[in-house]
Amino acid sequence: QIDRAIRPQALAEYIGQPIVREQMEIFIQAARQREEPLDHTLIFGPPGLGKTTLANIIGNEMGAEVRTTSGPVLERAGDLAALLTNLNEGDILFIDEIHRLSPAIEEVLYPAMEDYQLDIMIGEGPAARSIKIELPPFTLVGATTRAGLLTSPLRDRFGIVQRLEFYDVESLTTIVARSANKMGMELDHSGCFEVARRSRGTPRIANRLLRRVRDVAQVSGETLVGQKVAQKALDMLSVDSQGFDHLDRRMLLTMIEKFDGRPVGLDSVSAALGEDKDTIEDVIEPFLIQQGFIIRTPRGRQVTKRAYEHFNYQLPSDLK
Ligand code: ADE
Repeated sequence: QIDRAIRPQALAEYIGQPIVREQMEIFIQAARQREEPLDHTLIFGPPGLGKTTLANIIGNEMGAEVRTTSGPVLERAGDLAALLTNLNEGDILFIDEIHRLSPAIEEVLYPAMEDYQLDIMIGEGPAARSIKIELPPFTLVGATTRAGLLTSPLRDRFGIVQRLEFYDVESLTTIVARSANKMGMELDHSGCFEVARRSRGTPRIANRLLRRVRDVAQVSGETLVGQKVAQKALDMLSVDSQGFDHLDRRMLLTMIEKFDGRPVGLDSVSAALGEDKDTIEDVIEPFLIQQGFIIRTPRGRQVTKRAYEHFNYQLPSDLK
């Protein structure tokens, strides 16, 4: 799909995340000079910020193949063993949602990461035997939404840990301009900026909104797209001026209207919204917290003054 075409292939094309980029440049260069595989790398951060993109860039920069799988897909130890024994020296095994590996599979991963050795049990009962298989040196790249979801023995086995942050509007504007260009779209700076500032700090969302802006522009016969058309498209998608979508607004309004702005536990928010707790913690909440609309307190999460102001609600007296 088009998604692949607009993803950056090299670190030099990767926009934003300056700390991650600078560090990875050095670690990759050092590994290449030593002709060794890169150390195992954990990438964490909210969805859509470029974890998979970064894994593939690491592969390109190391001149290595990337084999991709994900935590929930690996059901039995044999599934992982099959992947590991098919790797060539220096290859990258990318495990998305690595926090969802079963404990039995994690056990297989430890010696593989540490000593490039596979220890597996074959057979059952008295005939069961353990066999050791040497693996080629490889790099495990793991991705997860929250590093805290990993067991500590697994987390400790990553030599490199990178945290992806929400993108600032400037970086996102550059990303949108680059994507528009690759899509053959004429979007002026004000149009790029409009899409960028309403994208929840997230390139995946920016690129998605951009395609909808293109639809609106195309159907209304506009060729050079500016802020007006972008605004029209984004209003139609009910993305508001802060970049909040329907779910963001529902969460904030629920906390204001149903809980009167008091601190509230995750279980209560989840029940009131009818959304599961993981979606709230991984998808909705991180951006609201980063933007200062929600804070975490020891008694639960709480909406801030900004949230009231965003909806033009009167502040309760204890928040004034
Ligand atoms: N597309 C999506 N994320 C990107 C990034 N960080 N840099 C450049 N293009 C992107």
